[in-house]
Amino acid sequence: MTSTTGESRYTPVPEDRFSFGLWTVGWQGVDVFGPATRPPMDPAHAVHKLAELGAWGVTFHDNDIFAFDADDTARDQALDSFRKALEETGLVVPMVTTNLFGHPVFKDGGFTSNDRSVRRFALAKVARNLDLAAELGAKTFVMWGGREGAESAFAKDIGLALDRYREAVNLLGDYVLEQGYDLRFAIEPKPNEPRGDILLPTIGHALAFIESLDHPELVGVNPEVGHEEMAGMNFAAGIGQALWAGKLFHIDLNGQHGPRFDQDLRFGAGNLRGAFALVDLLETHGYDGPRHFDFKPPRTEDEEGVWASAAGCMKNYLVLRERAAAFRADPEVQAALEHSGVTTLGTPTLAEGETLQTVREETYDIETMAARGFAFEQLDQLAMDHLLGVR
Ligand code: GCO
Ligand code: MN
Ligand code: MN
Repeated sequence: MTSTTGESRYTPVPEDRFSFGLWTVGWQGVDVFGPATRPPMDPAHAVHKLAELGAWGVTFHDNDIFAFDADDTARDQALDSFRKALEETGLVVPMVTTNLFGHPVFKDGGFTSNDRSVRRFALAKVARNLDLAAELGAKTFVMWGGREGAESAFAKDIGLALDRYREAVNLLGDYVLEQGYDLRFAIEPKPNEPRGDILLPTIGHALAFIESLDHPELVGVNPEVGHEEMAGMNFAAGIGQALWAGKLFHIDLNGQHGPRFDQDLRFGAGNLRGAFALVDLLETHGYDGPRHFDFKPPRTEDEEGVWASAAGCMKNYLVLRERAAAFRADPEVQAALEHSGVTTLGTPTLAEGETLQTVREETYDIETMAARGFAFEQLDQLAMDHLLGVR
């Protein structure tokens, strides 16, 4: 566990289960307005640096390690070097994902391209990557369908596209079961970017889709802070529902300033109050999965800045975790939670043996009930005081 003295209490250790995508620290800063501002980063180097910083795991898309058109020799070489770095550092691979968005062949999507041969190729690419994920011991396989969508209403029949999406996830689920892989899928919702409108745009859309699958138990969600906030949603509230549904298989932590382009800021930047509520929720509701950062160090940064940004993600999580624990342990907060009825919401509305008829026959003192103040402002200010470190 994190030690409790001085600055070192914010120094991450593997038990914190912090993981990073290779594509995050390796992002070269290419955007729609300009080319790379940083040189490519060798995956093995990224693994070593992440381990030095105190990370526990590293995740990747197939093509973060080997090129889309790599032959078997080039693929093996790249994987050998990556595996060697894992052995040297002890970093684990908790999650793997497939790039179904970069190559022009996927311009209309992978699983839901209007071109049937593209859909078949996408399935083959993912199946091969599932073998790799299982071999590396990954427990989660993320599906982010950034190109599954459209720019215009007439380009894609949503119902048919969802049929094909479901067909793909069902086939891949069957494959995992047949092979006996210890792998579950996590769908990552996003409202837009790169497509104008992406299928399964929010946590709620994804949860509804999952229930229509042949093996819903195999599939959960991988929500990303910025993606929900781009859609104006409250991330912690969405995570609360995903946890409630038993579907929070993985999470992408980062920062975002409200509805605008996907900023992928380091965790804790952007909506800080939202980040505090999120960490409090994850830590108090038994989420035991990876704390995975999916951020992009801004293209203004050189390599030193990249590691400062990565370290910041972890430090901010640890600081918020400490503040959340102090908030929960504060007797005044506990009294305020009680006073506001937060804890009593756990009591079923009807007692054992009561029926709807019982409540219909009851007499209600509506005036007193209506006059009650819930004191949520006092409670929220206590949270604010803890977040700001003045309590
Ligand atoms: C994004 C997405 C991606 C995915 C990644 C893993 O908005 O760019 O968040 O970073 O998380 O492709 O599937
Ligand atoms: Mn993102
Ligand atoms: Mn993501």
